[in-house]
Amino acid sequence: MYIEKFMERGAEFLGCKYPIMCGAMTWVSDARLVTAIGRVGGFGLLAGGNAPVEALEAEIQKTREMSDNPFGVNLITVAPNYKAQLAMILNAGCEVVVFAGSIPKAKEIEQVKKTGAKVVCFAPTEALAYKMVTYGADALVLEGSEAGGHIGPVSLTVLLQQILFKIDKVPIFVAGGIATGKMMAHMLAMGAAGVQLGTRFVMSKECTAHYKFKEQFIKAKARDAIATPAFDSRLPVIPVRALKNEGTNVFAKLQLDLIQKLESSQIDRDDAQYEVERFWMGALRNAVVDGDVTNGSLMAGQAVGLVDEIMPIEEIMFELINEGDQALAEVKKQLCNCD
Ligand SMILES: Cc1cc2nc3c(=O)[nH]c(=O)nc-3n(C[C@H](O)[C@H](O)[C@H](O)COP(=O)(O)O)c2cc1C
Repeated sequence: MYIEKFMERGAEFLGCKYPIMCGAMTWVSDARLVTAIGRVGGFGLLAGGNAPVEALEAEIQKTREMSDNPFGVNLITVAPNYKAQLAMILNAGCEVVVFAGSIPKAKEIEQVKKTGAKVVCFAPTEALAYKMVTYGADALVLEGSEAGGHIGPVSLTVLLQQILFKIDKVPIFVAGGIATGKMMAHMLAMGAAGVQLGTRFVMSKECTAHYKFKEQFIKAKARDAIATPAFDSRLPVIPVRALKNEGTNVFAKLQLDLIQKLESSQIDRDDAQYEVERFWMGALRNAVVDGDVTNGSLMAGQAVGLVDEIMPIEEIMFELINEGDQALAEVKKQLCNCD
């Protein structure tokens, strides 16, 4: 297969057959989803979210009991339970640890690497990509602002040119808006070591998200997945891409309330930002676990416009690989037909 040629670096790095990562999704990425991806040759990531440390430790254990395939753990550096989760991870014998949220400290990367785990960091801008490599990251994820959940400020198309085309020192995985094998193949041909998909894998049979949550994905068009605005520079918030619903309005109101409290010194900036993150964790749970699709958070990428069917993971992977391989065969044919 042509596609496997382009996957060699990423597959070796992750220790799996296909360097197709199912991005960690808080409340969504559990042992069931992670092992389902691993069984068909992909790479799953457990979401640390703001899980109590015992719960995350138990999920790691459960994943190991369910399968021998390698998997990773995603930690959100701004989550209230982050420090406790990190301390546990240092003794958990993980294969891959992904730092998300904001920028991990160089010391934290070093500590995790000392355990033998590979460290993957997000690079939402060019400057941060170089910084993370200097800090010792073993690989980067470039996630464009098309993605679902908390997002960076730059589209994947621009990140590719700023970072993927320039940095070769570490493998680079790309994310945001990828839902088809054809797009995956062209990303690999451009030099990506692999891809990370979130939205597409929510629409899998093995994903335990509430059916009403998935139903909203089926109905949604790409333009319905919108990024939340930031109203005031005194309250910097990481934008979140989600399907617009009443929850979006509730978040806008929360921001305005917090800005007022900041103005009247009823709250400081760190506590206000903490309130914002607490809101998202709770609102996402309401939608994913309880199926409250009116007030909960429907985090989703613009790729919702590309998926309208719930499929078994095995079929999704088969489709991605075969469609990708065909796309590369087509390129080869075109090249062979010209002088
Ligand atoms: C419901 C949802 C929850 C997410 N939660 C997290 C998370 O906890 N940590 C993280 O690093 N990324 C999170 N993401 C981002 C995904 O891991 C992935 O990078 C992203 O979905 C890729 O873009 P795509 O949605 O266009 O495929 C989340 C995405 C979604 C849709």
